[in-house]
Amino acid sequence: MTSATSATSATSATTPRASYQRCATCGTQYSDTDALARCVSCGGLLEVVHAPPLLRGAELRAVFAARRSDGPGSSSGVWRYHELVLPNGGAHVVSHPEGNTPLLARDRVSSYAGVSGLLLKHEGHNPTGSFKDRGMTVGVTQARRIGARAVACASTGNTSASLAAYAAQAGIPALVFVPAGQVATGKLAQSLAYGARTLLVKGDFDACLSLVQQASERLGIYLLNSINPFRIEGQKTIAIEALEQLGWDAPDWLVLPAGNLGNTAAFGKALREVHELGLIDRVPRIAAIQAEGAAPFASSFRHDFTTRPKVKAETVATAIKIGDPASFDRAVQAIRSTNGVVSTVSDAEILDAKAVVDASGVGCEPASAASVAGVRRLVKEGIIRPSDRVVAVLTGHVLKDPGALLRYHQETDPPPQFANPPVEIEPTIEAVERVLATGD
Ligand code: F0G
Repeated sequence: MTSATSATSATSATTPRASYQRCATCGTQYSDTDALARCVSCGGLLEVVHAPPLLRGAELRAVFAARRSDGPGSSSGVWRYHELVLPNGGAHVVSHPEGNTPLLARDRVSSYAGVSGLLLKHEGHNPTGSFKDRGMTVGVTQARRIGARAVACASTGNTSASLAAYAAQAGIPALVFVPAGQVATGKLAQSLAYGARTLLVKGDFDACLSLVQQASERLGIYLLNSINPFRIEGQKTIAIEALEQLGWDAPDWLVLPAGNLGNTAAFGKALREVHELGLIDRVPRIAAIQAEGAAPFASSFRHDFTTRPKVKAETVATAIKIGDPASFDRAVQAIRSTNGVVSTVSDAEILDAKAVVDASGVGCEPASAASVAGVRRLVKEGIIRPSDRVVAVLTGHVLKDPGALLRYHQETDPPPQFANPPVEIEPTIEAVERVLATGD
């Protein structure tokens, strides 16, 4: 038994009767324990549907609030909302625990972005340092429920780190496929440390994703990329928890970096569901931000989603270096149903925004800073108003990508706007005084 187990059995008054999987494209239904990567009829992506909880609105809000002080069984910021995530996890739940991430206000970041009411939802505070843990606790729980003999994923680094950790906790062998030479040091190190069988694929992320799908089909290994609908259920709790932290008074915008688009899809699903359950009165708009060199979704948005381009992705933000996002269709739905927008930022904008977030004492990885850079860009374009209430999601921890960080501060010539290069000195007090006097 793991730590969140009691949370899943605590409140029978709210526990619904059943969940099932449904193809988001053709509507074919499957049992909640079918181990399918995609719809058998049409190849579409699946989604999980739960029977609505017996309580709604203020009563359901009160149940969630009470669990905050329920003790160890409710210590996960994912399983606290189990009615909306996986009501039937029961004794299978594998929890670190995860979630319960802070919503931070930092003046320096607010004034840089141009929004006084900017809050940073810092998912880097999760156990493996990214939001992936919220999806993975549910995905690996599901792997246990169905008796998977092994689990696998393709990754730009964070999913693999998270899968490695949760699979280790569950005692299930994990196989990860990552693009050789394109994964940040901290992430690759985690996958090795947690004991996943790590394959460095000579190709990009998109090649890894195609390969892992073939491998999981042929070898009967349970696929835990974000095309897995149970991962999406867990990732919904980023938005749900942020809304609860705001007293269920929805902000104007939720802004997040977008790569494979699983998270954008999860946010859309979360917002639809909490609105239908009367937990919020109005739906915030989603702003999904891509790196300019990896922006097929943004380019489709500009054509009212009538196109579905694939690109050869190139960006310093390796986490979102993805040219053919798997959750494209579900993310379109998320943007449409929230009157959302998709925008892009350059690598220079990402790195400068990251330097500002870092220097505020918060810190994040490059891809995460795309959300702050995106807010700044959307304010300049007049899409976000300076007076709007905005939550920007920081998806990963500052230590994930020390390489990008050191290149910015000490190796870029000319030094970028916010560079803070180290100074090498002789071991004398005069040398220290000289540095302090010149400010060099
Ligand atoms: N931010 C970070 C830090 C990420 O690791 C990712 C995705 C994203 C944003 C984008 O989220 O793919 O749901 O649109 N990382 C995946 C991985 C692809 O393999 O770790 P998305």
